[in-house]
Amino acid sequence: MAFHLSPFTFHLSPFTFPLSSSPIGIYDSGLGGLTVWREVRRALPGESLVYLGDGKNCPYGSRPREEIAHLADKAVAALVARGCKMVVVACNTATAAAIDSLREKYAPMPIVGMEPAVKPACLATRSGVVGVLATERSLDGDLFRRTAARYGEGIEVVAVPGRGFVELVESDREDSPEAEACVRRAVEPMLERGADQIVLGCTHYPFLLPLIGRVVAGRGVEVIDPSPAVARRVVELLDRFDLRAPAGHRPEFGFLTFADEAYRLRLEQKALASLR
Ligand code: DGL
Repeated sequence: MAFHLSPFTFHLSPFTFPLSSSPIGIYDSGLGGLTVWREVRRALPGESLVYLGDGKNCPYGSRPREEIAHLADKAVAALVARGCKMVVVACNTATAAAIDSLREKYAPMPIVGMEPAVKPACLATRSGVVGVLATERSLDGDLFRRTAARYGEGIEVVAVPGRGFVELVESDREDSPEAEACVRRAVEPMLERGADQIVLGCTHYPFLLPLIGRVVAGRGVEVIDPSPAVARRVVELLDRFDLRAPAGHRPEFGFLTFADEAYRLRLEQKALASLR
């Protein structure tokens, strides 16, 4: 991987230098943000990407907010040090804990965060009941409260933490009997209330989509993965800031972690496998 821009130069005046060939940074507590990586890669095949999956401190979901904000800052700083022209915080939990402070600290670099897809779910529901699956820390944060209040008027929002989901994905047990038990436990209360939309509010959860699909089969439920919408937002911001890689640019992919080399290789292999 060879990225030549000094982060310093970049940080001082990102928009006066020819930085469009610099990579986009994508960060998550672990493997989950690869669901966003895949969509960004599909939407922007000419862009170089650097993915940072913390790995060492995953799961974030029940850690104190200040600790998550500190970890997110360390991760974004590492991506800036790699010369990234934009960062996607592909972690709902880190977004909920730190997006405002990250945007302030790293301005004017564009930072895209995850928003629970409550709006499209509330617009699409016919039963008037929407389920939201996310981590504990995302669900008790202001971002979720504000989004649910803003779009959920007159709609019943059933929010349930996906207990154990992140651990199952991190240990490649997405298709195990334990995973099925965890998914049933979380989803049943939503189905009982009559939810016809279920929002995946954590980037790890789309890895459980085949299983969730089986659990809700025949119940008339749509499961919403917000990662394609996040990729569209990245495209929009690249265009707005005139940061698209030039024609003919040969994209490179980097994978970073705070865990060990074995974990870094897993990130790389899982990312590349997701494109097949
Ligand atoms: N992928 C993270 C999210 O979107 C997972 C959080 C965790 O590590 O618990 O919230």
